[in-house]
Amino acid sequence: MPISLLPPDTLRAIAEVRARNDAAAAGERPAAFVLTFGCQQNEADSEKMRGMAAEMGYRMTERPEEAGLILVNTCAIREHAEKKALSIIGQYKHLRAARPSLIIGVCGCMVAQPHRVEEFKLRYPYVDFTLDAAALHRLPEMVLARMAGGRREFPLPAYGPSDVPPVVEGMPIHRETKWRAWLSIMYGCNNFCSYCIVPHVRGRERSRRLADIEAEARALIVEGCRDITLLGQNVNSWGRMPDGSFPEGDFAALIGRLAELEGDFRLRFMTSHPKDASDALIETMARHEKIARHFHLPLQSGSDAVLARMNRRYTAEHYLGIVDRLRAAMPDITLTTDIIVGFPGETEEDFEATLDVLRRVRFDMIYSFIYSPRKGTPAAEYADQIPADVAHARFDRLIALQNEISFEKNKQAEGKTLRVLCDGEKVQGGETLRSGRTDGGKLVYFSGDARPGDVVQVKIERAEPFVLRGKIG
Ligand code: SAH
Ligand code: SF4
Ligand code: F3S
Repeated sequence: MPISLLPPDTLRAIAEVRARNDAAAAGERPAAFVLTFGCQQNEADSEKMRGMAAEMGYRMTERPEEAGLILVNTCAIREHAEKKALSIIGQYKHLRAARPSLIIGVCGCMVAQPHRVEEFKLRYPYVDFTLDAAALHRLPEMVLARMAGGRREFPLPAYGPSDVPPVVEGMPIHRETKWRAWLSIMYGCNNFCSYCIVPHVRGRERSRRLADIEAEARALIVEGCRDITLLGQNVNSWGRMPDGSFPEGDFAALIGRLAELEGDFRLRFMTSHPKDASDALIETMARHEKIARHFHLPLQSGSDAVLARMNRRYTAEHYLGIVDRLRAAMPDITLTTDIIVGFPGETEEDFEATLDVLRRVRFDMIYSFIYSPRKGTPAAEYADQIPADVAHARFDRLIALQNEISFEKNKQAEGKTLRVLCDGEKVQGGETLRSGRTDGGKLVYFSGDARPGDVVQVKIERAEPFVLRGKIG
């Protein structure tokens, strides 16, 4: 798989934009505002966008009205995500009018779709360029072109549906916090679930090299990182080459190796696909204390008929088998999942089958979504779309059941002392509480002395449906 370092054009553009920004900044440096929609992959990409912006001489701001560069990193997973991005980008028209030198770029998954690229080009004259996720390293070139008075640019993805885009190493990363980090280990997806836009907007699956991942993890830990989440649309297929071989080992081998690095840290990973979650991975997790006892395993539906039409390539029974093996190996493991409600053709019995799996597994938490048809995916063309009111009613039933289960699962933590990574504070009822996450990823509010980034032992005194409360000690 081709791996490249930042191309010379990118390096030249970074230096030139920096020189221009340095020359212009008599008083204050120009500011960059980066707005992120979507999943953790996008969060991680935004950190690279900020990293490149910083190299180009921008300071970061949270206020778009003072920015000289606005970058919106978009998501296309559901209609709502796209609409929200369009509406916010629409508001930037006024910012451009007030500050003609403002450069606005729209990046990410939305603009890997030709119809959206066309829309930005024709209907958003104040958007200077679009850039899809696989071309992120070209950001400095795009900024420079506009600064130098060049034309607006709207490139379509540079790679066809069957090409594997190269992995570009060496993009600078600007992380907000030191103690927690996203670490992308692979990009793209080959699974083509019938509802999902990701394989269409992120291109074919490709993995970073073991040495590059290990070097990044090592550097993070040396700098004090306590919690690293390995990211990929389907982390279980890390290391797989286009010919199906695994020359550097598989995901279980990778995470086992990272878990042997020195230091007090936890490793997490997402997302896993049930068809690829291996026994070797379960054994590796059980063997290593540094791998967090949390597994996010998207179920999507509990009905085999729906799973087949979703092209998920597993059955509910297969899924339940993985859960059994995870719990046998790690009885205290936190399990979370994703569920889609109202997939085309979903009958009342299909939906009941999903509720049934929820009752049997008793997930700690679920992320649930109402099916949203995505242009260009097979499911959007299925004739038997579910009426919105039916989907909403099912969604409410699903949430009601899960709320009961989440509460009950949280109650099991009462009286226990858990390892918590402090990540901030919260003022509630005049009292200042610390907030943090357990190894299982649960939110905890607690009293006692701790700073963000500290790992503390918290005695859980009271459980609520979505939060645990306690104190240090
Ligand atoms: N790669 C991960 C995550 C993909 S996106 C995985 O395979 O699970 C995150 C979640 O969004 C998915 O798990 C799915 O539950 C949901 N999702 C994806 N496409 C959707 C659509 N068209 N409508 C509603 N939910 C969707
Ligand atoms: Fe989408 Fe399926 Fe790939 Fe996940 S595995 S990103 S749901 S196509
Ligand atoms: Fe959205 Fe793209 Fe992630 S579509 S969910 S930002 S991969």
